[in-house]
Amino acid sequence: MCGIIGFVGRQEAAPILLDGLAQMEYRGYDSAGIAVRGPEKGLQVMKSKGRLQALSDLTHQGADLTGPLGIGHTRWATHGEPNDVNAHPHVSENGKIALVHNGIIENYLEIKEQLMNHGVTFTSDTDSEVVAQLLEYHYNECGSMTEAVGRCLRRIEGAYALGIICADYPNAIIAARKDAPLILGFGENENFIASDVTAILKHTRDVIYMNDGEIAVLTADSIDVFDDELTPLNREHSYVDWDAEAAEKGGYPHFMFKEILEQPEAIRKTVSPRVRGGRVVLDDIALTADYARRISRIYMIACGSAYYAGMVEKYVWETLLRRPVEVVLASEFRYCQPLVDENTFVIAISQSGETLDTMAALREAKRLGGRTLAVCNVVGSSIAREADDVLYTWAGPEIAVATSKGYSTQLAALDLVGLYLADLLGTVEKAEYDAILTELQALPDKMQQYLEHYEETQYYASRYFNHNSIFFIGRNLDFAMGLEGSLKLKEISYIHSEAYASGELKHGTISLIEPGTLVVALGTHAPLFDKAMSNVVEVKARGATVLAVTTDSLRESMEKTADAVISIPETHQLLQPSLGIVPLQLFAYYVALQRGCDIDKPRNLAKSVTVE
Ligand code: AGP
Repeated sequence: MCGIIGFVGRQEAAPILLDGLAQMEYRGYDSAGIAVRGPEKGLQVMKSKGRLQALSDLTHQGADLTGPLGIGHTRWATHGEPNDVNAHPHVSENGKIALVHNGIIENYLEIKEQLMNHGVTFTSDTDSEVVAQLLEYHYNECGSMTEAVGRCLRRIEGAYALGIICADYPNAIIAARKDAPLILGFGENENFIASDVTAILKHTRDVIYMNDGEIAVLTADSIDVFDDELTPLNREHSYVDWDAEAAEKGGYPHFMFKEILEQPEAIRKTVSPRVRGGRVVLDDIALTADYARRISRIYMIACGSAYYAGMVEKYVWETLLRRPVEVVLASEFRYCQPLVDENTFVIAISQSGETLDTMAALREAKRLGGRTLAVCNVVGSSIAREADDVLYTWAGPEIAVATSKGYSTQLAALDLVGLYLADLLGTVEKAEYDAILTELQALPDKMQQYLEHYEETQYYASRYFNHNSIFFIGRNLDFAMGLEGSLKLKEISYIHSEAYASGELKHGTISLIEPGTLVVALGTHAPLFDKAMSNVVEVKARGATVLAVTTDSLRESMEKTADAVISIPETHQLLQPSLGIVPLQLFAYYVALQRGCDIDKPRNLAKSVTVE
């Protein structure tokens, strides 16, 4: 969703701001803008609807705005249509204050009305402009920008990350945060703000992740952080060890394709450091055997693909732990009066660590007294910091909106926690534990094995890309995997697609199968292979075209009935979805490619969904 960058230093700010915004393009946006403060031209603002290229052209690659300090923004419209006026930065009526905002100001209508009664004229339909005008109001009242920011923050409700510059303060950017991520970056004779670490990775790895309620004042030589009463704070720095190149396409046609191919390495990074002496060792989390024994209920809460990772892991954990696991959509969890007490273990799964629904569900779980674990990729993200424990997936930056390595490392991380708990509880035989752990460590090689001959998947995508509706069917773990496979396809190719538990077909859905309907039949779960075959026969009998995904050893049997078969190497049955998902990701990718879709930035979608 929206992206923020801010720079204060000794060089021209505009090109740095444009480049920072380009690094965040993947988040999804519909307009962009920058504001620069310079000694000659004062405060200059330019914004444009559409892609960043339009802003770059408009500003002659930033040359039209001069000065060593500025803020930039990519907007994903919530309040007011995407157009030049609603784009950020927003400028206060007297032209002195420019501001960029991520989040939603919930009481903006009330404040707007109040300001209008004081004669303030608004130019945009946004909630964000209200903050700029309110700041001017308080600044006129008290004459100090930091004090005005403090007063303004006490008045506004909702979520915000703010970057503010003022014509009267030629050397400073003011930043503030509540429920929306904002990072302070320390450079040499230059400093940064950013909503996303990839925006400043080229310049610095020395950062502070701002906490809710904090305000920061940045100059070229210093960053001072204050609490909401403007009391100075001494905040700890973090070091970002992401490789800047990992956030670049590096010759690949799309980030999604690159990230699919990066999965073996990503899973290796998730798993290897956490296996020692034939056991899972989770130094990162403080779960004791005593607590594990007291767990009476387990919830996994997440959205989208992360929720589907939870669906896979429900099968895995229930097998390993012999305890009930409920997977709940985060957007539902907070409103469903969940049964949480101190013996409830709640796992929040989120690649970005900033998904607002997941964050709100996590807070609800904590409020009710549950013990929480975050499984996140982005270090220092809000969900990671709020949970009692965090297990990072270490997948590196994921740029494509459609997740691939984010999802598969979530599976690997949750497999590790499942094994760890099973070990503490003694709910799994040693031989079985060893077999699963050995296969978990072998996953990267087996995935690589498939990735060396994925052309057949590419071929089937070119054969079936013009279907308008596609069904994914499977049982047990194959069903859970199908949910993610179907989401991948619809997200990036815009083909209508649904995933069903095969056994449910005859209870309704089979009426949708007609001659020529494409059914992707998943038959990688060996214990239920015969049943999967029966379902293939059922849909074939109604005229469906069947593309099956199975394991190498079951391929021959599947070929007898399905129209086309893709096979993957065998692994432990609980881990099979980690391999099975790869052809489904590639199928979605190549179908979308054939249909000419914008693969890395699908329409209407954003990388991290920071609104409810
Ligand atoms: C996945 O391809 C999607 N773009 C989306 O469903 C995503 O998984 C979901 O929004 C959750 O994001 P998170 O993992 O960052 O919380």
